[in-house]
This record gives sequence, C-alpha cells and structure tokens, in this order.
Amino acid sequence: MYILGIESSCDETSASVVEAENDVLTVRSNIVASQIEIHRLYGGVVPEIASRAHIEAITSITEQALEEAGITLADVGTIAVTAFPGLIGALLVGVNFGKSLAFANNIPLVPVNHIHGHVAAAYLSNPDLKPPFLALVVSGGHTSIYEVTSPTEFREIGATRDDAAGEAFDKVGRVIGMPYPGGAALDKLAYEGDKTAITLPSPALSGDTLDFSFSGIKTATLNYLNGMAQKGQEINPADVAACYTDRIVTALTAKAELALKQTGMKTLVLAGGVAANSHLRQALLTMCDRKKVCLAMPDRALCGDNGAMIAAAGYFQYLNGNFADTSLNASACDDGQGI
Ligand code: KG4
Ligand code: ZN
Repeated sequence: MYILGIESSCDETSASVVEAENDVLTVRSNIVASQIEIHRLYGGVVPEIASRAHIEAITSITEQALEEAGITLADVGTIAVTAFPGLIGALLVGVNFGKSLAFANNIPLVPVNHIHGHVAAAYLSNPDLKPPFLALVVSGGHTSIYEVTSPTEFREIGATRDDAAGEAFDKVGRVIGMPYPGGAALDKLAYEGDKTAITLPSPALSGDTLDFSFSGIKTATLNYLNGMAQKGQEINPADVAACYTDRIVTALTAKAELALKQTGMKTLVLAGGVAANSHLRQALLTMCDRKKVCLAMPDRALCGDNGAMIAAAGYFQYLNGNFADTSLNASACDDGQGI
C-alpha cells in the first residue's frame, strides 16, 4: 500500500510516498522544498510568509513526489497530513490541500501529530524497531521525552519548561554570526573549540525530574558575549559553540539516561531536527552502549521536517482506523485541541 505524506507545519513544504508492505515501510520519494533562504533575511521564520510559500509550492511538490515514486493518485491507499502542532497558517495549507485531494479522489485521509511523525522517521531507518521504547524528541519547537507504548500511544514524561533546544542553538548561532538556522553550523564549529573554555549552566533541571530549561544557558551565553564586547575583548566563536553544545548534549544525554533508569526501557529513539547533531548522536551511542540499551535514530536526512515521516506515522493511524472527514481542522497546540 502507498501512503502519500504531506508536511507544512513550519518552513518546509514536503510530500512523500512511502510504501508499506507487511509492516515494512520504504520511502519511494521524499521531496522537501525548504523556505530557509526566504526566512534567513529575517533571522527566523515569518509565519505569514511561510503560509504563502507553502501555497505556492504544495501542488508541484506533491506532483513531483508521485512522479518520482512512479505512481498516480489512483494508487494511493491513504493521504496523511500534519494537522498539529505548528504554525496555524502553515498547517492550514497542508490540511486543506490534503482534504481536497482526499475527498475529490475518494482516498481515506488521516491526520498526523507532527511529533509522532518525527518519531516515526526512526521506523524508516530501523525496520526492526517496535514499541515499547523511550523517545527523546529534540527539535526547533520541542524538547521532550516520551514513553511510547504503541506507534500511536505516547506519554510525555519530561519536557522543556521554556525554550526548545533547537531554538536555543539557533539563537546563539545568530548572535555569533551564523546564518539562520544556526544548529547545523554550530555542530561543525564545535569541533574546533575548547569545551572547557567558558562556564555555562546546565539545561538539565536538578533532581529526579526529566524536565529541562534552556533559558538559563541561553541568557548566560548572551551575557558572556555582551560582557566580552563591552570589555572590547575578542570572543572565539568555536569555543562558544563547543561549550554551548557540550552543555546541551550532556544535559539531554543525562536526562535520557535517567528516563531509561526510571522506566526500565531497553530501547531509546532519538528524533527531531536536532537529532542530526553529530555530538548528540555520539554521546547517546556511548551512553546506550554502556547501558546495553538499543539506540535507534533516523538517518540524518530524515531528522528535519519531511513528508516521509508523516507518511510513516500516517500508516499507523490508518491501521487504527483514525480517519478524518471534511471537518478536519489544523491546530497549533501540542494536543491538537484548539487553534
Ligand atoms: O524538527 P525540525 O526540522 O523543525 C521543527 O519541528 O522545529 O528542527 C529544526 C531545528 C532547528 O532549530 C535547527 O537549527 C536544528 O533543528 N538542527 C540542528 C542540526 N540540524 C538541524 N541542531 C543542532 N545540530 C544540527 N546538526
Ligand atoms: Zn519538526
């Protein structure tokens, strides 16, 4: 069966065809049109511009996805569309496009939670992966730990109380002169710096909680940069990247380890845009190796927002019979309730 996945929750318009055969999911096409160049001018995503760019791209992106997979709409078994959470105007473009396509062509439609989509990317790269497992989802908008008991059942057991890790990477990246989004550039630069050069607070909250707070480390880093500028002293951007990355990676790894201990889970999934971070991938590999825990990660190309992860998550919604009708609405909220 072919699943057409559509993603438009933030600044990537994406459509993908995933084939499901005996519960093995294979990506047949995954077209991603990034708006990064447009938003870079403003140093961040401008919601209204994002919605307009999705409208311009979505039809041709979907046509390309079908063409590259060598199928037509008549072959599609279900259409999966990101319905929440995300930017409301951006989501509405994908939801309305998906609804129109589904109902005009008599194809079942399934709504997908974007976060479940990020986790489902791990099934595409690890065909043997099956719940139960713990999922550490780290993206531009989220930093959470979930207990996943089935492909559609998630319980959040830890979360950031303020900013997300990706947002924190982007903010400091911008201040030290990286183009938006700074996450990937900081990843590379961190190899050239000394991770002990600057003392920064940990984003892991102390004690048994699995929660994080990134506002403290972000402010401390900005204060350090401002203080150096006021004293007329040069900063070494590579040292900033190395220290900042090390504190964030250490905190994420420590809380993932604590969550494994508290739940007794034997498999950890890392997902979300920040899952592409090479330091985080290595730190989790080392920790999981030591704890004899299986670590499953999406290929780096599937970590950022894409239609294939939405198609993968949509397949499980389809199996559950969670179909949407023409009343389907988008929601900016994590639980899909409310605008
Ligand atoms: O999941 P995603 O594509 O979008 C959201 O759902 O938010 O995540 C985007 C975030 C951005 O903050 C970006 O800077 C970050 O993922 N990111 C990285 C890396 N690649 C992307 N952060 C750290 N290291 C990377 N290699
Ligand atoms: Zn995302």
